[in-house]
Amino acid sequence: MVLESVARIVKVQLPAYLKRLPVPESITGFARLIVSEWLRLLPFLGVLALLGYLAVHPFLPKKKQQKDSLINLKIQKENPKVVNEINIEDLSAFCRCWRSKTFPACDGSHNKHNELTGDNVGPLILKKKEV
Ligand code: FES
Repeated sequence: MVLESVARIVKVQLPAYLKRLPVPESITGFARLIVSEWLRLLPFLGVLALLGYLAVHPFLPKKKQQKDSLINLKIQKENPKVVNEINIEDLSAFCRCWRSKTFPACDGSHNKHNELTGDNVGPLILKKKEV
């Protein structure tokens, strides 16, 4: 029963639908189509566009991870996550730009980074509250 319906659609209804489509015989013929012809043609063109996209999609270049999107460019890259523990007594200026050669302590590398990129990063400075 289902296969009969599929066969009827493929052998009878689809060819009849395609035969009725106002497909012009040249590119310039598209300019002469009237609105009602465009409306009949749009679903067909949509399906063609979808099939074309699906056929080409696997071959489109994948979005590469851009070097610009990385925050940490060189510090402990062998670790899946860089975690630092600091004793509360060791208050200091801590790097937030990930360019410091003494990470996690700030060595002033943020200044060069800011000059080169126009960024405005700076260290986190922890101070003891004076009572
Ligand atoms: Fe990174 Fe100063 S070196 S914030």
